[in-house]
Amino acid sequence: MIKKGIILAGGYGTRMSPLTKAINKQLLPIYDKPLIYYPLSVLMLAGIKNVLIIVNKGYVNQFRKILSNGERFGIKIKYLEQAKPRGLPDAFILGEKFIGKDKVALILGDNFFYGQSLTAKFKKCAKLNSGCKILVHPVSKPELYGVAEVNNKNKVLSLKEKPKKTKSNLAVTGLYFFDNKVIDFSKSLKPSKRKELEIIDLLNKYKNIKKLSGEFLGRGAAWLDTGSIDDFYNTSAFVSALENRQGLKIACLEEIALNYKWIDKKKLKTAIKFYGNCSYSNYLKKLI
Ligand code: G1P
Repeated sequence: MIKKGIILAGGYGTRMSPLTKAINKQLLPIYDKPLIYYPLSVLMLAGIKNVLIIVNKGYVNQFRKILSNGERFGIKIKYLEQAKPRGLPDAFILGEKFIGKDKVALILGDNFFYGQSLTAKFKKCAKLNSGCKILVHPVSKPELYGVAEVNNKNKVLSLKEKPKKTKSNLAVTGLYFFDNKVIDFSKSLKPSKRKELEIIDLLNKYKNIKKLSGEFLGRGAAWLDTGSIDDFYNTSAFVSALENRQGLKIACLEEIALNYKWIDKKKLKTAIKFYGNCSYSNYLKKLI
């Protein structure tokens, strides 16, 4: 069972400048809550209560202000600063002490997942015994992502980062589940031409030892990314449409914690006080 998760929330969000000049991208709003709530909700839904958030140098306090040590959601959050972005596998080198001898999940701070069947899928992936599991989903522009060919037995046949010619329409989403080998494998990677450690090189290490499997999110699920300003608005519009229509919030961390019995109603009242008079608080009040 995977009990630890890392959120990689570093990077400068240069494509979103000037919005990201003073504020970390993961703290910008997706409709009614900061972006970081969405990837954190994914780890929580998978049953993960031990979280490490990796942020840019000098940004820990911004994150602490909103998420603190995770107590409000009945989880433990630790923070680590990354001096400069060195590629996704750097998360496992920086996070070595946090991971210890355990298995670990990684989610990129700008990934958004939504779908009825996903909680069960995330929980299933968190049951990983050994090896690595990735989640794939069809997209209309696969060349913008890591692209995988996966057969109907979940075997990953090929993997390539942002290929000019794509062999499939399946993008590798930014949610990965690893056994403890991930630390040594990451340390053995060499920087690519763009001088970063590449996630696809890390996944290929697992593929070489026949320990990589690909799960399909499924057609009824949505995977959006928030790389550009337009993506931010589109994802916000998606959340706004669903939340207003259904009266149910997406990625309400306190609600997830309450449903999982990680917090009680007394703690929920503390959260309501923390947020003050706002629609998010009014929603929490309805849960009591
Ligand atoms: C990264 C990974 C890519 C993956 C994507 C998912 O790309 O390198 O393999 O498909 O995240 O969001 P980036 O967003 O850094 O371009």
